Amino acid sequence: MNCNIAVIKGDGIGPEVVSEAMKVLDAVGAKYGHTFNYEQLLMGGCSIDVHGVPLTDEVVERAKAADAVLLGSIGGNTSTSPWYKLPPEKRPEAGLLKIRKELGLFANLRPAFLYNELKGACPLKEEIADKGFDMMIMRELTGGLYFGARETKEVDGVMTAVDTLTYNENEIRRIAIKGFDIAMKRRKKVTSVDKANVLDSSRLWRKIVEEVAKDYPEVTYEHMLVDNCAMQLVKDPAQFDVVLTENMFGDILSDEASMITGSIGMLASASLNETKFGMYEPSGGSAPDIAGQNKANPIATILSAAMMLRYTFDMDKEADAIEAAVQQVLVENYRTCDIVSEGTTLVSCSEMGDLIAARV
Ligand code: IPM
Ligand code: MG
Repeated sequence: MNCNIAVIKGDGIGPEVVSEAMKVLDAVGAKYGHTFNYEQLLMGGCSIDVHGVPLTDEVVERAKAADAVLLGSIGGNTSTSPWYKLPPEKRPEAGLLKIRKELGLFANLRPAFLYNELKGACPLKEEIADKGFDMMIMRELTGGLYFGARETKEVDGVMTAVDTLTYNENEIRRIAIKGFDIAMKRRKKVTSVDKANVLDSSRLWRKIVEEVAKDYPEVTYEHMLVDNCAMQLVKDPAQFDVVLTENMFGDILSDEASMITGSIGMLASASLNETKFGMYEPSGGSAPDIAGQNKANPIATILSAAMMLRYTFDMDKEADAIEAAVQQVLVENYRTCDIVSEGTTLVSCSEMGDLIAARV
């Protein structure tokens, strides 16, 4: 198969980790007879440096024309980088939000899985880590607070900031359907997370999720308040299968879920629209403190490439091969610095990529 991939390496550790994912994809191509064509595009701070904006319309068009987008990370140090002296709509993050919206990527899948080999890196008590966990955070990605109208102004001489949180029933229904569809392929449980004891948008969320649930009699579902969910994630993560939630709650809960896998460097993600098109990126940020040092963990990006093969290109066995190769390097005790522990071998970002590529 001939696959056209738009590659946005971005800022910070993005270029390093994406290069390793491309290395692994090329190994898959060589073994299974596929060609991956890459078109490199700019987004984030690197685009600001060249074009003065974090995302140009031309890049949006080129991304749309590709079969899928492979993304690293965008942004820099928010207190020291000159990018953060710009107005908010010109900062790196605005590019990421814009591309998600422009490509209609409303469903964000973030699988949080505790590898046996990383139980020692899990910060939870041994008896909790021992039970393991395997959940899929389904985050709504193009609505809610991150896309509502916002402004800061003086009201009666007092500086006042407003952000608005809006969801309509169609936005809720389409992500709920995706969540239940994914649950059908997993352990058939959905935990829908909201703040229905306070927010109207959450009460509508609950109502629509209940309607959708009726079409999935085999799926067990429950509602959980977001504050309780944050607590349950560290108390008993094994209870979760699909965690279905709105944009901001999903942003926060997915970072929490990533930490209990041992490192945010392990958490892959896929952002999907209604077609086979998707954007695939590690859930972690640009980590400017370790950028350019060949130290970053490329596994989340490599696993995101595996998700791309699975969801966009229907290449299940190729995706399985990448996931098995990742498992294999962990079994063989290779670790980047974020997950290294006594008795394991410390490797660099590029060495980790080589090791995984050699095992696909
Ligand atoms: C993420 C990030 C982004 C988000 C930021 C960089 C805008 O935190 O992908 O989780 O909040 O969606
Ligand atoms: Mg986030």
